[in-house]
Amino acid sequence: MSKPLFYAASLVVLAFVAVKVRTRLQLSAAKHASLTGHARMARRFAALVPFYEYRERDFFRADSAPDDVAARRKAGFERLAAHYRTHFAATARQSDEVQDSISDLQFTSRYRVPFQFSRVVREHFKAGAFLASSSGVTVTDLDGNRFYDLTGSYGVNVFGYDFYKECIARGSERVAALGPVLGAYHPVTAYNVARLREISGLDEVSFHMSGTEAVMQAVRLARYHTQRKHLVRFCGAYHGWWGDVQPGVGNPLAARETYTLEDMDESALRVLASRRDIACVLVNPLQALHPNASAPGDSTLVDSGRKAHFDRAAYAAWLEKLRAVCTARNIVLIFDEVFVGFRLALGGAQEYFGVRADMVTYGKTIAGGLPVGVLCGRARFMKRFREDRPADICFARGTFNAHPYVMGSMYEFLQRLETDPVRALYRDLDARWNGRAAALNARLQEADLPVQVRNLSSIWTIVYTRPSRYNWMLQYYLRAAGLALSWVGTGRLIFSLNYSDEDFAAVADRIVSAVGAMHGDGWWWSAPVLTNKAIRRRVLREMIQARCSPLIGSMSSPRSR
Ligand SMILES: Cc1ncc(COP(=O)(O)O)c(C=O)c1O
Repeated sequence: MSKPLFYAASLVVLAFVAVKVRTRLQLSAAKHASLTGHARMARRFAALVPFYEYRERDFFRADSAPDDVAARRKAGFERLAAHYRTHFAATARQSDEVQDSISDLQFTSRYRVPFQFSRVVREHFKAGAFLASSSGVTVTDLDGNRFYDLTGSYGVNVFGYDFYKECIARGSERVAALGPVLGAYHPVTAYNVARLREISGLDEVSFHMSGTEAVMQAVRLARYHTQRKHLVRFCGAYHGWWGDVQPGVGNPLAARETYTLEDMDESALRVLASRRDIACVLVNPLQALHPNASAPGDSTLVDSGRKAHFDRAAYAAWLEKLRAVCTARNIVLIFDEVFVGFRLALGGAQEYFGVRADMVTYGKTIAGGLPVGVLCGRARFMKRFREDRPADICFARGTFNAHPYVMGSMYEFLQRLETDPVRALYRDLDARWNGRAAALNARLQEADLPVQVRNLSSIWTIVYTRPSRYNWMLQYYLRAAGLALSWVGTGRLIFSLNYSDEDFAAVADRIVSAVGAMHGDGWWWSAPVLTNKAIRRRVLREMIQARCSPLIGSMSSPRSR
């Protein structure tokens, strides 16, 4: 090779390497600084966390509170435990019977509070996994206790349980003549498709059995049509439990074709604008309440660092930017509305934020209380075959897709969306729920209680204003006060839109009273040295100590798992 040719070739190679390095650095810069933003590191860290737990004495002074405060906490704990024993006995007995045989239950009961406290809590507060009935905005357990329902059935319950009972009953009648015949469609399906096209503003629809599956199908199709491998999700966003959308803790495999980028940050836009391997961007609009943080649950409530704040205009502006870069780069923009669809507006998050996606997934509420996942998309992204290459297909089927009973219940749901009483629920929706949140916050503040709520319309989370290791205890006080929470505890309260002012006033009274009782029992003892940072440092020290010397440890007492 001649010298000039060699120099020219070297220059080309150097330029190529420089571009590669630049795009790699851009990608690193677009990761959120937290562990949540670094999936691989988070998985490694999680594997190192040792098990240890507090003996009963240490349980009450994990923050080095003085003895008198620890004694107050213990007395409060015992009083609450006695309440649970007497009021929730039958429900707890039934739960105990299946506790070891339902893996899901074993998991959720274990991860209700930070693991150091979990065993003692499980022994004293049998949460009760059974319910007997629902009515209005309440559910009733096996002991006859009525609770205001704040679980929202994982978000399914938008309009109240009676609404869904009707959808299921009427829908079942409607399809009864066909029964569970699969493969062919019941005629109600045609109406559902027409309405879904109208609501989403998109061309085609496919039916699946869960939100997770709808997301899987959206990503698969985006890869097929763009012929690119990578999906982009934003830090902390949940899109179901399929491996590619869950690259961090919880998935035994690394998701190699997933980029997790910082939400609401220009650095993510730079990555989208420069890389050529991105097929789609997944957006879960629920993240608007807590960008870059995972869904809040009490099992990770180690200190009072939980934050949430919703700014509709800022999030809408962010979605517009995403829309623009995706259009420019031919990247498929997917809104995952499995959670928020129909909760924020009749036209879902697209209408609420005023931005259109190429594909939208729905689920949870849309089949009137039966299990479902729906994908709507532009025709050019939904097609599963190529006219010019008949063997090059994007396969997706599912035995129970478009099940007649699901379609029947969905038909009832979609019909009811058009009725006046349902439309009325959306009028001034945000003003109503923001007003309720503000009024409750004012009451909590007036009573000098260290608790506030934050909300995205009817989706709420509780935040804590004083550093503490014991915030997770609140879920047990709330239950004793007659409020039903899901297994993530105070991380997420989900109201159905049929909560009247009177219903809400009763819930607010109970929240204030439960927070007051917990405060009175000394759990929010504070001292100048007790900062969130100090708490996190202390927990880290305990972990290191438990890891290095599993048989000793002053605060901790290692036990077998
Ligand atoms: C935004 C979002 N996507 C997908 C899913 C998964 O749906 P499913 O639990 O029906 O599989 C969920 C469930 O919570 C969700 O909130």
